[in-house]
Amino acid sequence: MEKRVYIRTYGCQMNERESEGLRAVLGDCGYEIVSDEQSADIILLNTCSIREQAEAKAIGKSNLIGKNREKFVGIIGCMAQNLGETIYKKSPHTRLIVGPNGLEKIPEYLDQLIRNPDRRIMDIAPHVIDKRFAAAHDTKKVKTSVFVSIMQGCNMRCAYCIVPKTRGPEQYRSMEDIIDEVRWLAGRGTQEITLLGQIVNHYGMGKMPSIGGKSPFVQLLEKIQDIDSIRRIRFMSPHPDGFKGDLIDAYGNLSKLCPHVHLPLQSGSDKILRAMKRSYKREQFLSIVAALREKVPTISISTDIIVGFPGETEEDFQMTCDLFDGVKFDMAFIFKYSPRPGTVAERLGDQICQEIKEKRNQILLKKVEQYSKAYNESMVGTVKEVLVEGRARRGTGQFEGHTPEHKKVIFKGTEDRIGQIIDVYIEGSTISTFLGKII
Ligand code: 5AD
Ligand code: SF4
Repeated sequence: MEKRVYIRTYGCQMNERESEGLRAVLGDCGYEIVSDEQSADIILLNTCSIREQAEAKAIGKSNLIGKNREKFVGIIGCMAQNLGETIYKKSPHTRLIVGPNGLEKIPEYLDQLIRNPDRRIMDIAPHVIDKRFAAAHDTKKVKTSVFVSIMQGCNMRCAYCIVPKTRGPEQYRSMEDIIDEVRWLAGRGTQEITLLGQIVNHYGMGKMPSIGGKSPFVQLLEKIQDIDSIRRIRFMSPHPDGFKGDLIDAYGNLSKLCPHVHLPLQSGSDKILRAMKRSYKREQFLSIVAALREKVPTISISTDIIVGFPGETEEDFQMTCDLFDGVKFDMAFIFKYSPRPGTVAERLGDQICQEIKEKRNQILLKKVEQYSKAYNESMVGTVKEVLVEGRARRGTGQFEGHTPEHKKVIFKGTEDRIGQIIDVYIEGSTISTFLGKII
């Protein structure tokens, strides 16, 4: 059997980062990474379990690939952890099942499976963070903008969420390891770092000291600020719990910290927040937003919202709408509640019918459209600093990059601009993208 591997990623940025790390370690172990399914011998689906639909999609894909007996499928990531050996029933041709914390073992497992064509391997045991895997990048393809994972797992128990089950308790990488990784990237041309964690601002909590009132997360941001050739710092996703004064001050003190925050709200009703076991109330959320806007008036604020959580009445939903109208998020992901096995909310059932969920979803999507349009229009006619990340997917001579607020801009450019921060005049916009001209 040849050793050509294709990795398809579902789910969040953490999964994207882990697929990237896996490509790097597989490449080091003699596997060839291909960018299309057809030319691969081994297809790994790095899966997500956050909603039932995400799992159904990956199972469907796996069964489709399974029709071709010459290809070999592995299911890895969150769904592997969540479903374990029941995957063999749903997708009988699957030969490899590995949870998100054991990915560093995949080269070894693939070697064994290639040698023994009748074997299957499953590893969903707990693993401690593997230092080498956490920092693995393809040395030949270091990008301008790179994700850096700083922790694994989650200690919160949000009633709807499967992540504590799939990714286990919080584990933190050491600050030294993270800084070494960022320095290594900076030395190879990376300009922008996005720190990743399930609750990124919980980094080091209870394990590393606060110094001078600064949490370990803020200390980490400060250390990255000091690395000369890094020009921009972002992070995903923080939790309103632990979003304290030191982090708000960081937006004023750290010149490289980009004016954008993705702060998941989930609901604007205190009753639903309590039922969701979210540890804050709407007023606390609003005061974080107010403090951020006071520090950086132009800050872009995006969020996640779940509609149709068990017990969500019209009044509860209205409170979410009111909060949305108050904050005017310029971007938001709206999700319809999906009951997940093993979560606290599972026993509450799925009380809100699809029709109501869909209706609430549509109402909020309209609001997202309205506020993102207003925000985007306010940017048209201005000049923005854009970090040129590469060629745009479509259009000859078109390049793309992001503004500090994390808005995507497409413009005519040249290859030599990649990796530079340039001034772009914003000529127009669609819902999610801006069109610009280099000046
Ligand atoms: N149903 C619907 N949405 C969910 N999310 C997490 N769990 C569920 C669920 N069971 C959403 C939350 C989270 C985002 C990543 O996915 O809004 O912030
Ligand atoms: Fe999906 Fe959550 Fe796992 Fe990311 S951590 S892949 S969002 S279940």
